[in-house]
Amino acid sequence: MPEPAIARHRWWKEASIYQIYPSSFCDSNGDGIGDIPGIISKLDYLHELGVDVIWLSPVYKSPQKDMGYDISDYQAIDPRYGSMADMDRLIAGLHARGMKLLMDLVVNHTSDQHAWFQESRSSLDNDKRKWYVWRDGFMNEKGEEGPPNNWRSVFGGMWAEFKIQAGGLTVKTQKHEGSAWQYDEVTGQYYLHCFLPGQPDLNWEHPPVREAVHSQMKFWLDKGTDGFRMDVIDLISKPRSFADAPVVLPNERWQPADKLISNGPRLNEFLEEMGREVLSKYDVMTVGEMPWMTDKREALNVVGWWRGELDMIFQFDMITMDFGNNGRYSWPEKPWTLSTLKGALEGWQTFMIQNGGWNSVCLESHDQPRSVSRFVDRSLTDNDPVTRVRVAKMLATLEAGQCGTIYVYQGQELAMKNMPTHWPIEEYKDVETQNAYKEALEQAGRDESKMQDFMKALHLKARDHARIPVQWDSSSHAGFTTGMPWMRVNEDYPQWNAALQVPDEDSVFSFWKKVLQLRKQYKNVLIYGDFEMLVREDARVVAYRRTNGQERALVLLNFTNGPVEWEIPRGRRVEELVDERYRKLGNHGKLLGEGDVLSLRPFEALMFIK
Ligand code: NOJ
Repeated sequence: MPEPAIARHRWWKEASIYQIYPSSFCDSNGDGIGDIPGIISKLDYLHELGVDVIWLSPVYKSPQKDMGYDISDYQAIDPRYGSMADMDRLIAGLHARGMKLLMDLVVNHTSDQHAWFQESRSSLDNDKRKWYVWRDGFMNEKGEEGPPNNWRSVFGGMWAEFKIQAGGLTVKTQKHEGSAWQYDEVTGQYYLHCFLPGQPDLNWEHPPVREAVHSQMKFWLDKGTDGFRMDVIDLISKPRSFADAPVVLPNERWQPADKLISNGPRLNEFLEEMGREVLSKYDVMTVGEMPWMTDKREALNVVGWWRGELDMIFQFDMITMDFGNNGRYSWPEKPWTLSTLKGALEGWQTFMIQNGGWNSVCLESHDQPRSVSRFVDRSLTDNDPVTRVRVAKMLATLEAGQCGTIYVYQGQELAMKNMPTHWPIEEYKDVETQNAYKEALEQAGRDESKMQDFMKALHLKARDHARIPVQWDSSSHAGFTTGMPWMRVNEDYPQWNAALQVPDEDSVFSFWKKVLQLRKQYKNVLIYGDFEMLVREDARVVAYRRTNGQERALVLLNFTNGPVEWEIPRGRRVEELVDERYRKLGNHGKLLGEGDVLSLRPFEALMFIK
């Protein structure tokens, strides 16, 4: 049995990480798109908040078909974000403040504009042919040829017309209907793209590909980068057989293949090799995005400290609680329940602590909606500013007390919320959203109720909600840009912005600042302590305790919009904690209650530490 991870102290366990989505963070040159100089101008703000590490979503050269998650040159900065000199200044500015930088490593796929792919597609015997996954088409009984199998791309069909350019030789406009394979006329074969056709998957089975990835990593580490967030890294080892995926969408030709393409047979081998060849030579941190990692044992094989693979992963059990077979837009809506949320939280906390792994603690990202709109009925936080502040603080407390490395997504510290429901579909710029919308229109036909259900899911869960500009102040476009922002700014910015919240002691910003300070001050118990979920069956309250020797903490959250009389559990040394003296966080006034019963007010959040 390995030594428990909580006994092993590391800087990246104690770090607070802040994700920046560059196009929407801060624009310095008035072109309406956030950029690296804009980030540099906000380093003091981030330092004041108390974050230690910035995770920067991709700023590499890219045709931006998927907002930079389609990279055409790993060693160049996309001009819309600045230059390599800006990048060097950013690293220096962070290090001067004692902060660190995580780059986004997107190496499951490249852009189809990457030189590697351009070479690979140019002929069957090109040196780089094996760098991507090429297959012949499949011929059915009628003699018709189609993609090699029934796999559906994660982004589904593209109804918008788009161009395929083969080494500048062929230009063709084609309607793409959702297969994960794209036919390429130059050589008459299909290539695999788990996401967009503009994002061909690299073939990790081919050793030169892995060497090339390692060398890109070294380039950034030698520049002073302090680690990586690894994009969909659970997909890098493809299955040995390219068999059809089971049918879960009965009326459709293309079927989700996630169970086949994720956690493939050589995943651990590839990650261990990366650790050995690259990461072990630097004092850096890694977090692997693993959207399809649901098996905790398999996750442990990646993050167990003795494995030499990754430090932690992002798993999505809490995020996908209400997803269906067709992902986030599945309908009819499948509402999540507090008990599902509690089960997911408890499962990962206790498993990793007991087995020598490590968790990331995260509620928002550029791929998820805003937590204040997502984890409570959004009409409450949309319509009542007091409730919105309370809920934002409650969700901050939910994160604050957990064992793991904590993440804050830009604007989360300001309680930014989802886009208003009255905005038209044109305000949604994400390719995933636009595809899903067109697909929904086609499937719903004349059935208006189906379309209404889709719109509800869109208002709740689209990725666009996290991608609207950060609200800095009450000047035009929220101080994000002096030009026209690439995405519309939320109308509530005059009341909800950083300039108002930073000096205000009661603001959500100040609450987050406190949370991050507490995690440093009480790291023994909050970062390294044991975890126990209390009152599992209570559908109104989340309550958990943390213990490390004599140090104890209790987190108590009323997830309802009404009062809850909460009986303090006896015999777990919890009752002594429920005392004004030990209350370190709260989003209402003084404690209310009598004797053994605590009266929790709507969305009340409490954290006690002794
Ligand atoms: C996960 C990224 O977070 C997301 O934004 C992107 O669309 C996909 N991976 C494909 O790279």
